[in-house]
Amino acid sequence: MIKALFTALLLPLSVLAKDAPEPGPDGKYTLTAPGITAKFVAYSAAITNLIVKDRNGVDRDIILGYDNASFYPVDPNHPDYGAVPGRYVNRIANHTYELDGTRYFTEANDGNGTLHSGLNGWSRRTWNVSEVTETSITFTIRDENNSSAGMPGLVLGTVTHSVSANSWSTKLKAKAVDHRTPIMLTTHPYWNLDAFANPDTDLVLNHTLSLPFGARMIGIDPNTQSTGDLPKVAKGSINDFWSKPKQLGASINDPAWVGNCGTASGCSGYNNQWIVDREAADEDKPIASLSSDWSGIKWDLHSDQAGVVVYSCYWMGGVNELKASQGGKATNGFVQRNGCVAVEPQDWVDGINHPEWKRLDKQIYGPDTGPFESSISYKFSTIK
Ligand SMILES: *[C@@H]1O[C@H](CO)[C@@H](O)[C@H](O)[C@H]1NC(C)=O
Ligand SMILES: *[C@@H]1O[C@H](CO)[C@@H](O)[C@H](O)[C@H]1NC(C)=O
Ligand SMILES: *[C@@H]1O[C@H](CO)[C@@H](O)[C@H](O)[C@H]1NC(C)=O
Ligand SMILES: *[C@@H]1O[C@H](CO)[C@@H](O)[C@H](O)[C@H]1NC(C)=O
Ligand SMILES: *[C@@H]1O[C@H](CO)[C@@H](O)[C@H](O)[C@H]1NC(C)=O
Ligand SMILES: *[C@@H]1O[C@H](CO)[C@@H](O)[C@H](O)[C@H]1NC(C)=O
Ligand SMILES: *[C@@H]1O[C@H](CO)[C@@H](O)[C@H](O)[C@H]1NC(C)=O
Repeated sequence: MIKALFTALLLPLSVLAKDAPEPGPDGKYTLTAPGITAKFVAYSAAITNLIVKDRNGVDRDIILGYDNASFYPVDPNHPDYGAVPGRYVNRIANHTYELDGTRYFTEANDGNGTLHSGLNGWSRRTWNVSEVTETSITFTIRDENNSSAGMPGLVLGTVTHSVSANSWSTKLKAKAVDHRTPIMLTTHPYWNLDAFANPDTDLVLNHTLSLPFGARMIGIDPNTQSTGDLPKVAKGSINDFWSKPKQLGASINDPAWVGNCGTASGCSGYNNQWIVDREAADEDKPIASLSSDWSGIKWDLHSDQAGVVVYSCYWMGGVNELKASQGGKATNGFVQRNGCVAVEPQDWVDGINHPEWKRLDKQIYGPDTGPFESSISYKFSTIK
């Protein structure tokens, strides 16, 4: 009886494995819904293309990526284009943290710090594809003990990307199977809402950003590592996107622009985290909105996360080639400094080193806790 049940259960599984979904001829998986087409690759569970209509009904591919799916794993610049980094995203100061009385050392791949769990993080691996439909794709990853170097225990991760009318949604889930460990996941799309076709500029400095709940930030040291400070964002200051929407380049002549995202490296503009301080009644409201006057394309970002990182592409140095679906007379075919903006909803950066923040229940998981779970969705529209 039990054996028969097992056979019945195993049979469809092996059929499934044999029929593992194949990507299209371009090496990508394509999802479509009214008003939206999105493409994905298994490397880093990444989104590679996202096409919506601008205000004149013209298709625009507004996300950064490569035409060549095979290039992702070998890209020497590796900006984590569209990726799902993990098992613990963003920075760990001084590449170390303590958990349950043990000090762990992670990989120093960002000065003395760790970024996106080092050079074997989840955005550096080819995930398994477990299911594909016309509107969704599910990727899985098996992250063995210490495989994200310096993080203990086995973690099983699942990411489902889906599209529906004018929207792209992602559900992130990860279970720590046999040991307590840090887990924090996000999506890492880079945006240029003009698809680089604006004849007057290939930059995003004229994109308008709103962070309506972002009146506090995570304080950083000269190397962009969290210090533990939670500075207030003064109205009218360079980092103020909460009192009203503002163009990303509006403060470019403010002396605070230079070094705003790290004085040691001279990172100018934004690579910072804003805390999402909201009441339960505001849970359904977007935590960020971005629009471009030129294309008229706007997105509203909805997420359950308590922070959002915004990076205005200071380190893009004209080496990342645009896709064939992008570009116009203002470009030379490559992404320039300030040519894009990356947006990453996630819990407070490096909370594992700041127990005083009381974020550990959002950042440490184990066999006795539920899984890490998060949802992120972008809703697209056009403005007049
Ligand atoms: C795609 O990238 C791979 C890896 O760099 C390279 O071997 C291949 O020639 C590229 N193909 C095209 C069409 O550019
Ligand atoms: C990194 O370590 C140095 C030396 O112990 C210490 O002075 C510094 O505060 C640490 N940085 C952070 C951000 O914790
Ligand atoms: C780098 O981090 C290590 C701990 O991992 C610390 O001992 C060292 O002092 C740090 N160096 C600097 C320059 O902060
Ligand atoms: C994909 O699945 C295979 C077979 O179960 C497994 O060995 C491999 O580790 C998985 N790859 C990833 C990235 O999880
Ligand atoms: C974890 O992996 C890293 C990198 O492979 C290695 O340097 C380190 O010694 C490992 N940690 C343990 C506790 O073995
Ligand atoms: C993880 O691997 C490290 C060294 O590679 C080992 O010391 C440790 O016991 C392992 N932990 C688990 C939970 O398997
Ligand atoms: C960008 O915005 C500024 C200020 O609103 C404006 O002066 C400038 O002409 C705009 N540039 C482009 C290329 O649209």
